[in-house]
Amino acid sequence: MTQEENKKTAIITGSGRGIGRDTAILLAKHGVNVVVCSRTENEINSLVYEIKRIGGNANILGVKCDVSISSQVISVVKSAIDKFGSETIDILVNNAGVAFNKKLIDTSEQEWSQTINTNLKGAFLFTKAVLPFMIKRRSGAIVNVNSGAGKTGFSNLSSYCASKFGLFGLAESLALEVDAYNIRVMTIFLGQVATKMWQDFDQSYYEKNKKRMLDSHNVAEKIADMIFDTKNYKNGDSFEMYNLNTFATG
Ligand SMILES: NC(=O)c1ccc[n+]([C@@H]2O[C@H](COP(=O)([O-])OP(=O)(O)OC[C@H]3O[C@@H](n4cnc5c(N)ncnc54)[C@H](OP(=O)(O)O)[C@@H]3O)[C@@H](O)[C@H]2O)c1
Repeated sequence: MTQEENKKTAIITGSGRGIGRDTAILLAKHGVNVVVCSRTENEINSLVYEIKRIGGNANILGVKCDVSISSQVISVVKSAIDKFGSETIDILVNNAGVAFNKKLIDTSEQEWSQTINTNLKGAFLFTKAVLPFMIKRRSGAIVNVNSGAGKTGFSNLSSYCASKFGLFGLAESLALEVDAYNIRVMTIFLGQVATKMWQDFDQSYYEKNKKRMLDSHNVAEKIADMIFDTKNYKNGDSFEMYNLNTFATG
């Protein structure tokens, strides 16, 4: 067994920027093998470069992937196994997400499908792909990055809310299914975070409010806590991290 195969491997989806990127950097600093993926190749390449630059003994694999496409998800997990070994697959952060700022009546079928297929189906596909390895070794941590919009409805966010409510249902059900295998399925519910998602969602709101939004570095620290602090974060747990603005636009 090589040194790389001794370490745990974390797959972080949607890690080219924002919360996923900060989480990948932090997990690399914790010394796990890190697999990063998103659709934008140059963002993944730049993250791989950054982690190699700061990385100490971190091992990194960057793969272009659309989480809504089954063959691409399977290919990421296969590449991770080829590089690090199947027995290292231990951490999954389902983070990839999109949001469209539209009333339901103005939402196209394509926008609905993209939202559900990225935010919900993507988590299903990645979870299904890694679960056999976690079950075999009776070890694993899965963190689903959710939102206040996964518990409460918001105007102009019906498809996003549907996807995030669904993601919580997936997490609660899966937690029951894997409890016997020492696998922890956890959810982090977030308020507004100052990332490109918010910029794209409403640039002028973002400019006025970004200082009051959560910082993605702090979110990444909490995700890392949930992964590594096995005493305080159990299977089925969720953690809420909101800011002052969170329910202002609801
Ligand atoms: N920002 C907030 O206020 C907020 C609040 C609550 C929850 N969240 C959740 O936090 C997570 C991260 O969002 P963020 O704020 O960090 O936004 P972000 O900066 O826009 O990052 C989103 C990431 O997801 C990736 N992504 C989108 N569609 C994808 C697809 N089909 N396949 C693979 N990757 C895909 C993006 O890369 P590509 O576009 O290159 O694929 C990007 O790397 C999301 O699940 C979001 O719902 C955010």
